[in-house]
Amino acid sequence: MSEITSYSPGSGDRVRPRARVASTAPEIDLSGSWRFRFSARPDLAPEGAAAVDFDDSGWDTIAVPSHWVLQGRDDWGRPAYTNISYPFPVDPPFVPDENPTGDYRTTFELPEGFGDSVYLRFDGVESLAIVSLNGAEVGVVRGSRLTQELDVTDQARTGTNVLHVRVHQWSAATYLEDQDQWWLPGIFRPVTVVSRPAGGVDDVWLRADFDATTGTGRLIPEIRAAAEAYPVTVRVPALGVERTFDSPEDVAFIEVGEVRPWSADRPTLYDAEVGNAVETRTVRVGFRRIEIVGHEWRVNGRKLRLRGVNRHDYDPDHGRVFDEDVVREQFMLMKQHNINAVRTAHYPPHPRLLDLADEIGLWVIAENDMETHGFEEDGWVGNPTDDPRWRDALLDRIERFFERDKNHPSIIAWSLGNESWTGQNAAAMAAWLHRRDPERPVHYEPDFEGRYSDVVSRMYPSLEEMEDLSAGLGNNRHASPGRAAVLAARPMVLCEYAHAMGNGAGGLADYEELFDTLPQWHGGFVWEWRDHGIRTRTEDGTEFFGYGGDFGEPLHDGSFITDGMVLSDGTPSPVLAEYSAVITPIKLHLADDGLLIENRRHDGDTSDLRFIWRDELDGRQIGSGELRVDPVAPGELVAVGLPGFEPHDGELWRTVEAVLVGDNGWAGEGHVVSRSQVLLAVRRPLVRPLVTPTLPVEADGVLSLGPARFDARTGDLLSVHGREVKGPRLELWRAPTENDSLPGFYSYAEEEPAVARHMVSDSPAWADRWREAGLDRLQRRILSVTTAPGTVTVLHRYAPAATQRAVTVELVWTLDAEGLRLDATALPTANWTGAWPRLGLHFELPPGLGRAEWFGTGPAENYADSRAAARVGRFSSAIADLVVDYAVPQESGHRGELRELTLPDLGLTLTAEPAGGELPGFTLRAHDAHQVTAAAHPHELAESYATHLYLDVQQQGLGGRSCGPDVRPEYQLRPRAGAWSLRFDA
Ligand code: GAL
Repeated sequence: MSEITSYSPGSGDRVRPRARVASTAPEIDLSGSWRFRFSARPDLAPEGAAAVDFDDSGWDTIAVPSHWVLQGRDDWGRPAYTNISYPFPVDPPFVPDENPTGDYRTTFELPEGFGDSVYLRFDGVESLAIVSLNGAEVGVVRGSRLTQELDVTDQARTGTNVLHVRVHQWSAATYLEDQDQWWLPGIFRPVTVVSRPAGGVDDVWLRADFDATTGTGRLIPEIRAAAEAYPVTVRVPALGVERTFDSPEDVAFIEVGEVRPWSADRPTLYDAEVGNAVETRTVRVGFRRIEIVGHEWRVNGRKLRLRGVNRHDYDPDHGRVFDEDVVREQFMLMKQHNINAVRTAHYPPHPRLLDLADEIGLWVIAENDMETHGFEEDGWVGNPTDDPRWRDALLDRIERFFERDKNHPSIIAWSLGNESWTGQNAAAMAAWLHRRDPERPVHYEPDFEGRYSDVVSRMYPSLEEMEDLSAGLGNNRHASPGRAAVLAARPMVLCEYAHAMGNGAGGLADYEELFDTLPQWHGGFVWEWRDHGIRTRTEDGTEFFGYGGDFGEPLHDGSFITDGMVLSDGTPSPVLAEYSAVITPIKLHLADDGLLIENRRHDGDTSDLRFIWRDELDGRQIGSGELRVDPVAPGELVAVGLPGFEPHDGELWRTVEAVLVGDNGWAGEGHVVSRSQVLLAVRRPLVRPLVTPTLPVEADGVLSLGPARFDARTGDLLSVHGREVKGPRLELWRAPTENDSLPGFYSYAEEEPAVARHMVSDSPAWADRWREAGLDRLQRRILSVTTAPGTVTVLHRYAPAATQRAVTVELVWTLDAEGLRLDATALPTANWTGAWPRLGLHFELPPGLGRAEWFGTGPAENYADSRAAARVGRFSSAIADLVVDYAVPQESGHRGELRELTLPDLGLTLTAEPAGGELPGFTLRAHDAHQVTAAAHPHELAESYATHLYLDVQQQGLGGRSCGPDVRPEYQLRPRAGAWSLRFDA
């Protein structure tokens, strides 16, 4: 069988996997420019290219590390995106004859005496590398995101060495690497020449245990070194530890006395050295104990709470090539948003990433490079996880995965992989891990029945399913009834939830509440951290972020690759702030007469925080101060007194914020960790006298009422105070979010919307139902335009073709002592079913308006099921910045409960007063909902003909149906009546 179709984990003199820890032995990083030759098929690859004297002067060059499809060379193939599907026939172990192949050549110099042994280390090659040194094949490397070292001592020579690596994009190993991501071939992580001294310390695992009851630590050294390498000494200078072991048999525990433990909140690391006269290794040690006690997963005696994200290695220009500075910044951004955990979806990251997690403080679920999701399409027939032919390859993967990263204190669980269903090989992998590392739990979501993994893990469940799992009920989707009670006795985690595709996901706060209240749950990991759009350009040079299908792939999954909380260009999308507000570990329970501060951190009191209050009357600050709060210990809840307040006429809000006292390494002084608001007083309703009523006058088809001009035939407003303001028209349509457009797994049963437990799995996507109902094509009929002294009253009927369903809108324009007001109502007929995306009035203002200032909610867009980050206040923004540049244009920019909106360019202020107890939300955008619907990428948006103002009495929530549960019934917009009360002032 050829190398391409072999089940084998690899061949050649493969070095036994070992930890990546610093060494005094030299290494040579071969990153740089290599010779490269692309061939569309293996049989077109150059013959004899491994030979030392092969003439590669006619070849191209390429940077190593990189992906050859991201070099802007279309003749080298293009990126391709599929989620579940393999991009070729499922016919293991075979792959297509059209198998892109890259030949790489470079040379390197080895100084005299470089090492007694020489290894070549590969950290990431997708998917198969056949390696030759100085003309002889030295090994075959498989496992794209796993490290492999080859012992090349016999081939390496002092002086110039010639290295040839032939990389095939597809191989049998590809069947194990079907993660939902771009297919990006090439040598994308470093290649390193490693010197190995005889008598060196080949491998070290310094387990660092912490006893929370005594506050003391213990080192448990495991040293791999030849007998001649002894004596070996372990030192931790900061702790005054120095122990020399004279022989392998001598190696023993080292009690280190009192230590500061490691946690994601306070990541204390100690530099340890393990060495002898020949070689010293440096390990950064963090003391901590992980244990499962009943259904609690504990670190250092405290239950874990994971506020996590799934993270891929991804960069819009460089794909999976690692950039330490960028990752450090990402981790800072995570910490600034109260995120404390990362799942390395779905493969081991670049090894440095875990050093950063140790240092910056993030709990990590480390995941192995395994996904076989494409077998699902045929009912998992032939799935590698259960087929003995793949056993060696999978066990090899788990070993390489574990051994490289075993020293990291940040890793709190080992995950076998993702979405590979279940089977004997998965069980064998788990058994291997349990034997090798009895401390850290094994995670594997597809082990639904908990046969061989330690934590119960689920993806995208509904709240009801989580409750059922907790209660030990058998009706959750994935475990047989008999196992449910067993599972309920274990810790539970959501390895994925809240699919952050486009605008969404909504409902984060509801999940948080269950994590807070159901004892088995330990939090979860939002899917996912970042969009994976690829920076690309249209023919005329306009930059955009490409997704599936933008690179000519015949089979692809569209924009499903852009589903992160951070956009492809690195801009946080509003859901990140929402997540931060929801998961804050400092809960401020604020009422008008007091404050409860709850510290839900794992570790550390609140002495790094100040608690600031301020009062705002109608959005303008009238008082502020700092609360005196003694440090609150983790797990504690304390009551704090608040200053009194004077009754005022107006809307009085009190805000309390927990802010950092000083720079803590990931955020600066004043950074807001938590915020809460309470309404202390409301404005008394105003009664405005009417002015002496004058009859509206009509001239040339234009009706005038005070500052307002109307089209006398349609009743449409044309201008106010001489400023162009057209409309309003009823709008029930919103540009579907991706959560609206995709059917997801299941929705709430429509016939019983109030019964959330009733889920159906095959209902069409909302956008399809809305189109079916005709919401995107309402027709209008003018019923009447009537005038009376001081009043213009307009009646319009809106209805889609082919149905008797309609909505009647009444617009009553009046003049009172303060100016022009509009009281509007929308009344639907009784025969509507389903839900509406919005119930809004649409005004058209002149195009190109610059800024907006408002008193309402902000700063970012917010929706019924996504408003934890929103606060009431005064805000201002460029109108262009009010909407988010999602990879696919969609509904964006809604901000609930508008009180006042000023458009300085237009010289107009619009005031909203509660109508039927409700304030409308507003959206201001350069494109109307239909233009936005029509565009698949931001650059495809049609030219703006107006600035569009939507005032929505209600919008449907966001939900997470692109991959997960529907908008919950309480956030759905069931057809209903609405009312608006607005004023227009110059
Ligand atoms: C999960 C999967 C992820 C990703 C996500 C949807 O099922 O594990 O890799 O595909 O769905 O974006």
